[in-house]
Amino acid sequence: MAHNALDMKVYGGIKLYAGTGSPELAQHVADYLGEPLCGRDIIQFPNENLFVKLHSSVRGQDVYVIQTTSSPVHRNLMELLIMIQTLKLDSAARITAVIPYFAYGRSDKKDQPRVPITARLIADMIQVAGADRYIIIEPHAGQVQGFFSIPGDILTAFYRITEHLVEIKQKMKDPVVVTVDLGFAKKGRNLAANLDAPIAFIEKRRVANDAKAQALTIIGDVNDRDVILVDDEIDTGGSIVQAVNLVKQNGARDVYVICVHPIFSSSASERLAALPVKQFITTDTVPIPPEKASLLGDRLKIISVAPLLGEVILRAHQGRSVGEMFNE
Ligand code: R5P
Repeated sequence: MAHNALDMKVYGGIKLYAGTGSPELAQHVADYLGEPLCGRDIIQFPNENLFVKLHSSVRGQDVYVIQTTSSPVHRNLMELLIMIQTLKLDSAARITAVIPYFAYGRSDKKDQPRVPITARLIADMIQVAGADRYIIIEPHAGQVQGFFSIPGDILTAFYRITEHLVEIKQKMKDPVVVTVDLGFAKKGRNLAANLDAPIAFIEKRRVANDAKAQALTIIGDVNDRDVILVDDEIDTGGSIVQAVNLVKQNGARDVYVICVHPIFSSSASERLAALPVKQFITTDTVPIPPEKASLLGDRLKIISVAPLLGEVILRAHQGRSVGEMFNE
């Protein structure tokens, strides 16, 4: 029987797979979509090499691999790459790498001689493995988009965070949004505009390649105001500790800390716990181990990005606009 080409479906159904990087988030995305996470084995051999086996065929299907690339970074990255290759070799029709947190995003340019651009390398590896598309939340810099030659969706978690801030803003006194560094100025400005609040900036200068930072000056007024400090990620906590101290020295009242990616490496959670901060607002792009989360107690508010990822996956599958979700 002859088929009209326009009636033919290009992809089969949605198939969701997850690595071991963020199992809870992956399950929440699956719950949002009402689709199960497909079975697979991920085995690590004694020599640390990984092996993946799918429990069922993905031939002709529209497959989404959810894998964050936070700690253990290299294991999570390799899982992602190997899963993509496995799906490709099993003839998936389309493979989308769903990466809530994109590792190496901070290494995005040669800003000194004889250094790599590792974010570009990771993008290349994802493509070579066989991904057709990608979805990334809040990469450190927008240019990551240009490192891929496949299409993708770069998403912001700030719509979800703003909803929460609008709610708690009622209780704040003269709130001001403060960005932890100038690199975040544009996003900070958008947040301030959405909250109808003024903005201030911290000028921060990195003094070495060893993750130590130094907060220098504050541009703008925080005196006798509640401060909403924003950054894309908290890694060691060094930047945020200095930022909180700086705004406090400049007369800030209550301080709220926002970060999209709670990396919380080494003793970051201990350092954060000691800060005079009213609330830490973050997301689940990176899972926070319970022992770290408990140090922050009920000051920690985690906003899930699962509905965001779920809706974008649904729209990508149906060939509908994603920009529409953000009134674009
Ligand atoms: C850097 O440019 C980022 O925006 C963050 O400020 C940085 O990743 C935070 O790192 P840490 O918590 O180690 O100071």
